[in-house]
Amino acid sequence: MTLRKQSRIALVTGGTRGIGEAICIALANEGYQVITTYRNTERETQARDWQSRMADDGLEVDLVLMDVSDHENCEKAANELLDRYGRLDVLVNNAGITRDGVMKKMPIEAWQEVIHNNLDGVFHVTRCFLNTLLTQESGRIINISSINAQRGQFGQVNYSAAKAGIHGFTKALAQETARKGVTVNTVSPGYVETDMINAIDEKIRDQIKAQIPVGRFGQPEEIARLVTFLADENSSFITGADFSINGGMFMH
Ligand code: CAA
Repeated sequence: MTLRKQSRIALVTGGTRGIGEAICIALANEGYQVITTYRNTERETQARDWQSRMADDGLEVDLVLMDVSDHENCEKAANELLDRYGRLDVLVNNAGITRDGVMKKMPIEAWQEVIHNNLDGVFHVTRCFLNTLLTQESGRIINISSINAQRGQFGQVNYSAAKAGIHGFTKALAQETARKGVTVNTVSPGYVETDMINAIDEKIRDQIKAQIPVGRFGQPEEIARLVTFLADENSSFITGADFSINGGMFMH
């Protein structure tokens, strides 16, 4: 593939599906050189197929193997990317998983996996690029959290805790980077039509939909619009903020 050397460079973790995919498409359409990640070698074929589909639509998205839960693996991938591009302008920490279940039945693995992927992952990936962003004296870090961090969710002690942790991380890091032109923000989507939502039992899903004032689930593209706005060079006065985008389901 031809790499766009002159473009702003954006890394979106976990961007081959759902909200991440929409973010990749939106940023690529804005002219960014977008890179996204796949978690392990078993997923490579699927990721390469996705990359070819993007290319068929005229979007050249680069791919890298990066397991966000594993800091050594993140460092290896980040070094590869920094060698290839020499800089990073936008980091979207989007990769995340669910392992829902009530706490009394939750295996320790379901807690650990979610914390490792959804919270540690944000630290691991950001850590790899932080010095580059600070040295450049410009950068955008956008962390994808959730409405369920803001209000809690029955059956998600692991996910709600990890996603709430993300916003604490955002606020602390935003203070550390503000003087260096690096903004850090959180986006907290509500229920958006993705595989993650479709995995919820249909009856429960209908009950959830009934609680959304606008009367529908969000679309991934609606979240991507907000991310693109925050990624813009002109969004430099917005930092340490948490943006709710949830159809009115949680107002605070
Ligand atoms: N509040 C209070 N009680 C509830 C409840 C709720 N929201 N939901 C269920 N209960 C009650 C049930 O009525 C039931 O009560 P009884 O035992 O008295 O009958 C009891 O809790 C057990 O409920 P379930 O039979 O549903 O329990 P389960 O173990 O089969 O399933 C669950 C538990 C997997 C958590 C299931 O309830 C579920 O899938 N809930 C939805 C979780 C959810 O919203 N996940 C979001 C995923 S998408 C995402 O995370 C993206 C994002 O950022 C928004």
